[in-house]
Amino acid sequence: MIEFRGDLPGAESASGLALGVVEGRVFDETGRGLMGQLPWLEHHLDDAEFIGKTGQLLVVPGGEGSAYRRIAFVGLGSDPTAEQVRRAAGSAARALEQMPSVATTLHDHPLAGSAEGVGMGFVLGSYGFHRHKSEPKPSAIESIVLLGGGDAAVAEARRGATIAAGVTFARDLINTPAIGKAPATLAQIAVDMAAESGLRSRVLDGQQIEAEGLGGLRGVSLGAANPPRLVELWYEPADAKAFLAVVGKGIVFDSGGLSLKTAEGMETMKTDMSGAAAVFGAMKVIAALGLPVRVLGIAPLTENMPGGGALRPGDVLTARNGKTIEVLNTDAEGRLVLADGLSLAAEQSPDLIVDIATLTGSCAVALGDKIAGLFGADEPTGRVQAAADAAGERVWRLPLPEDYRKNIDSDVADMKNTGTRYGGAIHAALLLKEFVGDVPWAHLDIAGPARATEAEHYVAKGATGFGVRTIVQLARDMAK
Ligand code: BES
Ligand code: MN
Ligand code: ZN
Repeated sequence: MIEFRGDLPGAESASGLALGVVEGRVFDETGRGLMGQLPWLEHHLDDAEFIGKTGQLLVVPGGEGSAYRRIAFVGLGSDPTAEQVRRAAGSAARALEQMPSVATTLHDHPLAGSAEGVGMGFVLGSYGFHRHKSEPKPSAIESIVLLGGGDAAVAEARRGATIAAGVTFARDLINTPAIGKAPATLAQIAVDMAAESGLRSRVLDGQQIEAEGLGGLRGVSLGAANPPRLVELWYEPADAKAFLAVVGKGIVFDSGGLSLKTAEGMETMKTDMSGAAAVFGAMKVIAALGLPVRVLGIAPLTENMPGGGALRPGDVLTARNGKTIEVLNTDAEGRLVLADGLSLAAEQSPDLIVDIATLTGSCAVALGDKIAGLFGADEPTGRVQAAADAAGERVWRLPLPEDYRKNIDSDVADMKNTGTRYGGAIHAALLLKEFVGDVPWAHLDIAGPARATEAEHYVAKGATGFGVRTIVQLARDMAK
């Protein structure tokens, strides 16, 4: 856990310094003072043609007369946004990862809320998944000194770090190999987190899943040796102003089932529970912040495996709300488990249901690997879009055309789990819509941004924890 403090006497004992630079090489007051004391720094900046463009980074030794061993200049561009501050802090965290203590001026920025972004960026940028390395090399950063920062800035930075801790909680679960997160194991981790956070939890085992009529989840679990679970987490503050339900896809490994994936297609499929992890991470944060919003988190957890008992193409499943689904491709399993999760959420009549899922490769084809697809009616997708924008997670709305519904018509059941050749993300979303009844609903397809193929700013290679920040922001907005 990184500590944050203000500008105490002795702060100059920090070993690293992160200076934000606005394009045109414009410094804040502290930066100007420092540049005056250490005139040779200008030459370093000249040599590197460093002017403070967005994402520009230059690390130099502090040199003689400097209180710092290493100085990182991070570019903020010409008109810095909150997201640029988060990214700058993340880049600085990675550039100064060997420094136990880092001083910064990044919070000292015209934007309101910059200190929150500094806290978030440093925690996220210091993240690594080292559990299985025999010689782990975690970030050395232990404390961040906000130069010139008072109590308010420190409190904001700590809030940013609290949100980031939910993201890193999710990242750890997602990066965990499938062998270490069977549904029962993952459910227990969620229950332990709930107990620590003051959340109420309920877990359904395989028999209860069958008895409760969760036919989609049960169907997907049939080919797996490890039995399924369904996790419900409740956050119920006395002063709740609204009721939000979040449902996350929790396929702890997606082999495709009998409609088997290729070897390459399976390489990253331990991350197919990123939606469930985002729900767990967000609820941990919402409880820690004490937001006055009632929140129900639901995560159907199972493996999708091709064992002897596996679901067969052509099988028909009955979901919790009584609707039937013909399974033509067992690799389109996410929508089957979400059908039950969404039905359960809708039964509680929340003000809003948001589901989050690594649902379709075609969403990643459409939007690339950094932008999530957002589906639903104008309202509430407007609110989800606004929350995502404020949180710094990129989402883009895709349509839910009524006339495409016929593409998932089945000859034998109420619907089938595949569509026509094109528009795969839309067909998946149209199926989900069948399970939310009249409750306002938005769907996030995070197949692209749940995982990063390379590290940049506050993102590490591997799990990103995408969605935690949007859900938290949505709860913050609903608390107003
Ligand atoms: N988990 C996958 C989607 C996915 C693919 C996520 C790649 C991240 C990266 C999902 O269960 C799946 O297999 N979807 C199929 C559906 C198809 C069979 C209708 C897909 O998108 O190809
Ligand atoms: Mn699949
Ligand atoms: Zn899947």
